[in-house]
Amino acid sequence: MKVLVLHGPNLNLLGMREPGMYGTETLDGINTALARLAKELGVEMECRQSNMEGELVTWVQQAAGVFQGLVINPAAYTHTSVALRDAVLAVGLPVVEVHLSNVHKREDFRQRSFLAPVAVGQISGFGIDSYLLGFRAVVSVLQQGPDR
Ligand code: DQA
Repeated sequence: MKVLVLHGPNLNLLGMREPGMYGTETLDGINTALARLAKELGVEMECRQSNMEGELVTWVQQAAGVFQGLVINPAAYTHTSVALRDAVLAVGLPVVEVHLSNVHKREDFRQRSFLAPVAVGQISGFGIDSYLLGFRAVVSVLQQGPDR
């Protein structure tokens, strides 16, 4: 079983970016924690980050046949990207959407996610744990199969 973790725009700046909102953990730190969890669960994992919507769309497309599930923090593209949503629908792989912050208690424009209606679920507000819980969730979905 192989899971792809995608990080969207500005998440490369974690550690120095709005620490009051996103904490002081770096993206490398998150990826290291994910790698540790993947090993513990006996799952293969790859993490990628891009500031470009099209690159994220291409990675979702290319995931078909290589990865069985995805964990995505689309960052600002959560609230804007029909293209990312369409890519997820096109490949039909289970996706868990994650956010470090609780987007539902922030600005109005963050209340809407284009991805959430086509994701298995969304985990928001637990900092780095959102990623770890999201990773466990997608692995559990894959282990239980489509008829869970
Ligand atoms: C975020 C929330 C988004 O609204 C924001 O644009 C981000 C990060 C989060 O992880 O809390 O860049 O996805």
